[in-house]
Amino acid sequence: AHVITGLCQDTKDQSCVEVCPVDCIHPAQSLDGDEAYEAAPQLYIDPDVCIDCGACVPECPVGAIFMQEDLAPEDEKYIEINAAYYRK
Ligand code: SF4
Ligand code: F3S
Repeated sequence: AHVITGLCQDTKDQSCVEVCPVDCIHPAQSLDGDEAYEAAPQLYIDPDVCIDCGACVPECPVGAIFMQEDLAPEDEKYIEINAAYYRK
């Protein structure tokens, strides 16, 4: 799967959300605002749904998204951090 790293934090640009063909990037902010979005430090990719299409990668203005296998060692913790969001 692809993974969103901590670079997303403070930016939460959401450009990635719109391009994902399987809608597996959450939480996103609705037009009315969204509590889950406001509370989340960053967005997360659902590893069970992501099809590794790569469409989200070039959309992110801060380069926060990586293929799991391409993560820097210090960012490997985000594999679990992304997955954990969907176990809530
Ligand atoms: Fe969605 Fe594709 Fe990005 Fe996976 S790689 S999160 S399927 S846009
Ligand atoms: Fe975050 Fe980049 Fe998406 S900042 S919300 S991973 S476009």
